Amino acid sequence: MANKKLHLNTVIIGDALKELNKLSDNSIDVTVTSPPYNKRNQSQGWLVTNEKYSHFDDYMPEEAYQEWQINILNELHRVTKSGGSVFYNHKLRWVDGILFHPYQWITRSKWLVRQEIVWDRAIAANMRGWRFWQVDERLYWLYKPENGHTVGKELQSKHAKLSSIWRFRPVSRSKDHPAPFPLALPVRAIAAMPGEERKIILDPFCGTGTTLVAAKLLGHDYIGIDISPNYVELTKNRLGASDLEKNVVSDEISKHKIDDPFVARKKRGTITWPYGPKTNNGETDT
Ligand SMILES: C[S@@+](CC[C@H](N)C(=O)[O-])C[C@H]1O[C@@H](n2cnc3c(N)ncnc32)[C@H](O)[C@@H]1O
Repeated sequence: MANKKLHLNTVIIGDALKELNKLSDNSIDVTVTSPPYNKRNQSQGWLVTNEKYSHFDDYMPEEAYQEWQINILNELHRVTKSGGSVFYNHKLRWVDGILFHPYQWITRSKWLVRQEIVWDRAIAANMRGWRFWQVDERLYWLYKPENGHTVGKELQSKHAKLSSIWRFRPVSRSKDHPAPFPLALPVRAIAAMPGEERKIILDPFCGTGTTLVAAKLLGHDYIGIDISPNYVELTKNRLGASDLEKNVVSDEISKHKIDDPFVARKKRGTITWPYGPKTNNGETDT
């Protein structure tokens, strides 16, 4: 059990599990991360060519992959403060027609699953005719209870109204990295977490550093880890120029507000089912 002083606002080149082992217990407030998916270098379909990571081939026997992910999740649990959260991005994968659902291994870790959020990307590379076009990924909001209270603090309504379906188009593929987050995604997760204090934000698979940029621009401290020296360099450069991405943060934060509160709409009698007909005022409930 490591209890070393944390070096904040650093990006470490290294293996996620080994580096997590070095972090102190109960030291991190929020993690937003997306591990490699064990895509096994499958062909991506006709839409795009298969893009690879610079220092990782993303091909493990499925059982070993799931064990690895459970170990990562359990280490994240150890280093997270009570009352803290992890947003773990993954997706449903099929190998030879067999479905591997992230829930299969998440529920074997120490975490309490607080919510399954659907990330609607609207587009995905893998378009084949044997099932409907899968354009969603998942974000598992994992919670570490405080004093045994499994429910924890409520979100402010301006965040909670954003719903359990997050619509963010993926960032266009670049030669630099095959699978970066859209910046608005970690911004939403981090900004919604209760408490005004400066937090410590972690991403043990930081890639191009999107979570770290979100943390920095929201006024928090961060720690990033990635196995690829190329991506770590990219991340450091990006953090140095993070002001260029401020507009994405303010766009996302502008969505965290309530123009017309539920109570007022209820009073006016203009509450409708979102996909239903327009009300007398021409308004639909959103
Ligand atoms: C899905 S990408 C993360 C992308 C990131 N969310 C972003 O916005 O750029 C997964 C990352 O995990 C890294 N990786 C793979 N194996 C790793 C390991 N054992 N330890 C740390 N990082 C690893 C890859 O280099 C890749 O950048």
